[in-house]
Amino acid sequence: MISSTGIPDVQQNMIHAPGGLFITVEGADGTGKTTHAGLLADRLRKEGRDTILTREPGGGGAVASALRELLLHGDDMADRTELLLFFAARSEHVAHVIRPAINSGSIVVCDRYTDSTLAYQGYGLNIPLEMIYRLHEIATGDLWPDLTILLDLDPAESADRLHDHNRMEGRGMEFQHRVRNGFLSLAETAADRYVIVPSSGPMEEVHAAVWDAVRARLPLQQTGCAGS
Ligand SMILES: Nc1ncnc2c1ncn2[C@@H]1O[C@H](COP(=O)(O)OP(=O)(O)O)[C@@H](O)[C@H]1O
Ligand SMILES: [Mg+2]
Repeated sequence: MISSTGIPDVQQNMIHAPGGLFITVEGADGTGKTTHAGLLADRLRKEGRDTILTREPGGGGAVASALRELLLHGDDMADRTELLLFFAARSEHVAHVIRPAINSGSIVVCDRYTDSTLAYQGYGLNIPLEMIYRLHEIATGDLWPDLTILLDLDPAESADRLHDHNRMEGRGMEFQHRVRNGFLSLAETAADRYVIVPSSGPMEEVHAAVWDAVRARLPLQQTGCAGS
């Protein structure tokens, strides 16, 4: 974003090209993130927006994909190893996919990002949040989303929806409750970028609520377009 003086704003979150927008879809396992990130990206493209759909961990190329395999299906690892691997994958993702896209004016829809690390490794595994915020700054240059859609659902209901189970999902119900409540706390802390969408209704209803939240943000990103 260019300030009124014509000098590029140095704040990391303010360097998007006109039209660039970074949206994350968050929530515990089985809340519908992958479903709704996909529906949202389709909708944005239908509206003529240049949109990239990506996910974590694993978005960002070969190194990030290899890290995803380790994180979701690898053998037992120390909690801090897991934390560092998530941020290593995120660093790749931001450098190779997310920043280039928003800096060229695209909309990025990302299925999970740092809020998932705060919820799972912070609230879920009790790693101090300050440590996670510091790693986020190092790994991403402190890039935060413009908008975070939090899909919220009772873990009992999410469990009924899930068919495949990975390492994270195998941590049990109590863990899933801590993750859900962690996300709700994060939404309170960063209320300016969070929209909570209850995810228990039919897909069309949830999608409509997601779309309302996104549409409300879109015009703000268009005001800098030259000649428009
Ligand atoms: N609103 C909904 N109602 C019923 N089932 C849903 C809804 N949204 C998603 N699902 C189903 O729940 C399962 C988990 O959804 P998914 O998008 O993979 O969740 P996540 O990525 O958050 O783990 C999928 O089988 C999906 O089809
Ligand atoms: Mg998913």
